[in-house]
Amino acid sequence: MKTIPLGGGDLTAPNVVLGLMRIQQMSDDAVRELVGSARDAGIDFFDHADIYGDELHGCERRFAEAMQLTPAQRDEITLQTKAGIVKDGPYFDFSYEHIIESVEGSLRALETDRIDVLLLHRPDALVEPDEVARAFDELEASGKVLAFGVSNHTPRQIDLLKKSVKQTLVANQLQLSITHSPIIAEGVAANMQGLEQSITLDGGGIIDYCRLHDITIQAWSPFQAGFFTGVFLGSAEYPELNAAIDRLAAKYDVPAIAIATAWITRHPANMQVVLGTTTPERVAGAAQGSDVPLTRAEWYELFRTAGYRVP
Ligand SMILES: NC(=O)c1ccc[n+]([C@@H]2O[C@H](COP(=O)([O-])OP(=O)(O)OC[C@H]3O[C@@H](n4cnc5c(N)ncnc54)[C@H](OP(=O)(O)O)[C@@H]3O)[C@@H](O)[C@H]2O)c1
Repeated sequence: MKTIPLGGGDLTAPNVVLGLMRIQQMSDDAVRELVGSARDAGIDFFDHADIYGDELHGCERRFAEAMQLTPAQRDEITLQTKAGIVKDGPYFDFSYEHIIESVEGSLRALETDRIDVLLLHRPDALVEPDEVARAFDELEASGKVLAFGVSNHTPRQIDLLKKSVKQTLVANQLQLSITHSPIIAEGVAANMQGLEQSITLDGGGIIDYCRLHDITIQAWSPFQAGFFTGVFLGSAEYPELNAAIDRLAAKYDVPAIAIATAWITRHPANMQVVLGTTTPERVAGAAQGSDVPLTRAEWYELFRTAGYRVP
């Protein structure tokens, strides 16, 4: 498993990690088997959010109850969670009170004394950077949160936070798969008149911004065709893409899911792929894509066969 320096700093993390958004209905044994398959593959980094599950902190609690980690086992892993979405509404809330309350809830649910990485989940239109800074300062000083980041943020939204927040923002978790890659595609087709792909949807160059500022991009829904529309792998809607994936899988002697993973890990931004599967075999297969050396021609072929234009 290839590792990367998270946020360009001292914290090293695998470039394929396991998201636990979908574990609410799983038994203790199934959760342990899933997490065990990740650990066997070199994945020691787990992504949560307060809102994952049927109830607030549901998946965090399911994880802790199933895993029953000893202090030594807890020390071996990195736990990341998120705050800032209020499900009932829904609406977004980056107020001091909400951030603190959410983290306290996550600490209880995860049965731990610290969150390794806390992300602000989705940009709050009513954000007050000073309030975020006050919450982050307090959480850092008490040792309850060790590192901070964001998710679904544009370059300017990050700049605005940085006006008050003094901690390094180590990560920006963004939706990215071969078939859902506007954050990459816009740059490839910049300034093409009449081409939807060249419209900036991310506030302008979020990938380049994150590279410039050493913010690790974490790709969520790495196998979903769109916004929770089902996976593109094996989908009849993407015959050319799947033919290319299958050919490359045979060439590199890995499963197809590893090629879909490698399309993200091959990008020089040193991104992390956040897996959402609850199937241990798929975790093992995806992990094999951590360091597949796709050539430029192969990488662009996957991008083109997913429907993007290379002008
Ligand atoms: N920051 C954000 O706003 C945000 C938003 C969404 C998600 N996330 C994070 O990203 C993680 C991944 O999201 P995701 O679950 O949407 O990503 P994903 O890995 O692209 O999708 C996984 C889902 O696809 C299903 N699937 C069906 N066929 C598959 C195949 N051949 N290969 C792989 N999966 C297949 C899986 O089913 P099985 O479980 O049956 O394998 C699972 O339900 C989440 O766990 C969460 O941590 C973050």
